[in-house]
Amino acid sequence: MVQQQSHPTTDEAAQSEPRKAEAPVIPTISTGEGLVYHQGRLVPTHEAMLSVTTHALHYGTGCFEGIRAYWNEEQEQLYVLKLREHFERFAHSRRILMMHPGESVEELCDVTVELLRRQEIRSDAYIRPVAYKSARTIKLTLSSLEDSISIYAFPMGNYVDISAGLNVCVSNWRRVSGNAIPVRAKTTGAYINSALATDEAAAAGFDEAIFLTQSGTVSEGSSCNIFVVKKGRISTTRPADDILEGITREAAMQLLARDMGLATEVRAIERTELYDADEIFFTGTGVQISPVTRVDRRAIGSGQPGPITMELQQRYLRAARGDDPAYADWLTPVYPRQAGA
Ligand SMILES: Cc1ncc(COP(=O)(O)O)c(C=O)c1O
Repeated sequence: MVQQQSHPTTDEAAQSEPRKAEAPVIPTISTGEGLVYHQGRLVPTHEAMLSVTTHALHYGTGCFEGIRAYWNEEQEQLYVLKLREHFERFAHSRRILMMHPGESVEELCDVTVELLRRQEIRSDAYIRPVAYKSARTIKLTLSSLEDSISIYAFPMGNYVDISAGLNVCVSNWRRVSGNAIPVRAKTTGAYINSALATDEAAAAGFDEAIFLTQSGTVSEGSSCNIFVVKKGRISTTRPADDILEGITREAAMQLLARDMGLATEVRAIERTELYDADEIFFTGTGVQISPVTRVDRRAIGSGQPGPITMELQQRYLRAARGDDPAYADWLTPVYPRQAGA
C-alpha cells in the first residue's frame, strides 16, 4: 500500500554542533493493495473511490483524524494510541459540520482495530479516518447533505526528525481564526492554512512553521501544539489562541505533571518569548514530541534539544509503545493477547 519511507532516529543530542534535522519521506498511498473502511464496509483500496462531483472535494467540507499505532517487537503487539479520544474528537468535528451521527465511537474503534488486524500490520502505523459531505451537489450548505466516513491505515515511522531539533520560523501566514473556520473541529478545508505555512517555511529552508493568532500572539505549529520552557516553568498556548486542542498536548501535560513533577501553565505566549526560551517543543500525533532548537535563525537555549523535552519524549514513546504499564489505559491492542501475557 505504501511506496517507501525512511526512519532517521539517531540521537545526536550530545553533539556540540547542531545536526540538521532530516526530513523523513512521507509515504504515498498506492491503491493496488490493502483495505479501506469505506461507507460502512471494509473493501479493497481500489474500490474506495469517490466521484469528482463530491461536495467535500469542492468546498473542503470534511473533517479527519490522525491516529498512530506503535509496534512493540518484544510483545509482538500493535498498540493504537488514544484511539477512543481521537474518535471522540472526530464525533465533535462531525457535529460542528452538521454531519449525521453515523457510526458510534465504539463502532469506529472496533472497525479500526479490525482494519489493522486484517491487513496484518506489524510495524508503526498511521491511521487516517475522514468524514466528508459525500453528496454530489454544488449547493453551498452544510446541513441536509449526505455524508460518509472512510478510514485507511498504512505503515509509517517518524513524520519529522524527532532527535536533531527542528529549525523553525514564525510564519507570515496567521492561524485561521476560530471565528472564520471552527479550529476546534479538525476540518479538511482549514488545512490549506497549514499547507501554506509549511510550504513557505520549507522554501525558506526551515523545517516547520509557527503560527501567530490574528492578534499576534503565538498559536501553534502547522500541525502541532507548542510548549515553551523558561527557568523550569512550562507553558503552552490556550484554546482561545485558535489551537486545535491536541490529544498529545494533553498526554504531555499528564506525563510532565505525573512523572516529572512539572505543572504546565496554559496562557498567552508572546512571539519574543520564543527567542528567549530555554527549550521549545512541539506535540502532536504526527510530530510526537519534537524538540525545536532554532526559531527565526536564533538558537533556543543551548541550541541543542533540551533535557526536559528529551526526557518527556522518551517517556511518551515508552508509554505509546506499551513499555510503561502506568499508561496501559492509553492503548488499544490490535492482536489477541497470548495466554499469560
Ligand atoms: C493544527 C493542529 N494542531 C495540533 C495538532 C495536534 O493534535 P494531536 O495531538 O491530537 O494530534 C494537530 C494534529 O492533529 C493539528 O493538525
